[in-house]
Amino acid sequence: MRIDIITCLPKLLESFFAHSILKRAQEKGIAEVVVHDIRDYTLFKHKQVDDYSYGGSAGMVLMIEPIDRCISALKAERTYDAVIYMSPDGSTFNQQTANRFSLFKNIIILCGHYKGVDERAREAFITHEISIGDYVLSGGELAAAVVSDALIRLIPGVLSDETSALTDSFQDSLLAPAVYTRPAEYNGMKVPDILLSGNEKEIEKWRFENALERTKKRRPDLYEKFTKDSGLDTQ
Ligand code: ADE
Repeated sequence: MRIDIITCLPKLLESFFAHSILKRAQEKGIAEVVVHDIRDYTLFKHKQVDDYSYGGSAGMVLMIEPIDRCISALKAERTYDAVIYMSPDGSTFNQQTANRFSLFKNIIILCGHYKGVDERAREAFITHEISIGDYVLSGGELAAAVVSDALIRLIPGVLSDETSALTDSFQDSLLAPAVYTRPAEYNGMKVPDILLSGNEKEIEKWRFENALERTKKRRPDLYEKFTKDSGLDTQ
């Protein structure tokens, strides 16, 4: 997968992708993240990319021309499955969307800044508008990093234990069960006996029940949906 991110703050993103799983995915050639500074695409003096909004509301708006020039240059090189705009008024990102997007080969992510981008750029170039939650960040960069991370870790070969993304919270609409590591007892606090039993079938059963219990307690909305969808509510 190749992700091209268009931003006014490239430095903010470069360090994020230079570490950990995201770095390894790029070293292995499984994922490529290319950050583009929108200022490189403006024809204005002093690299201006934003301007006051017509009608006089507060805040600066990203201009359509540098966005157009950057996206057009990228599209001249390859075809894209999606051009995503990060915005608090987009549809809320979740694991299902991450699963769907992780199958894409090439995507562009445009980060909004200041008061957003000229509406005509959204209408002309954007295929998906995504929010990472009902709160307002000072720009789309952190949101673009969140979405990229969620997609890249799903690509086969990125995580060393390939099954681990499948057992994440939300992957089957339940939260993940509790996990434990050594020591088996710490200051009187014990790991559940069943996890030390070596009985895979019983362990699997315990994990499922633990996931159900946690979801019921922490996310009753997800629990209700899961029991309804799986028919557990009528048993
Ligand atoms: N830009 C600012 N706030 C955002 C949010 N909540 N999600 C995505 N992009 C944003």
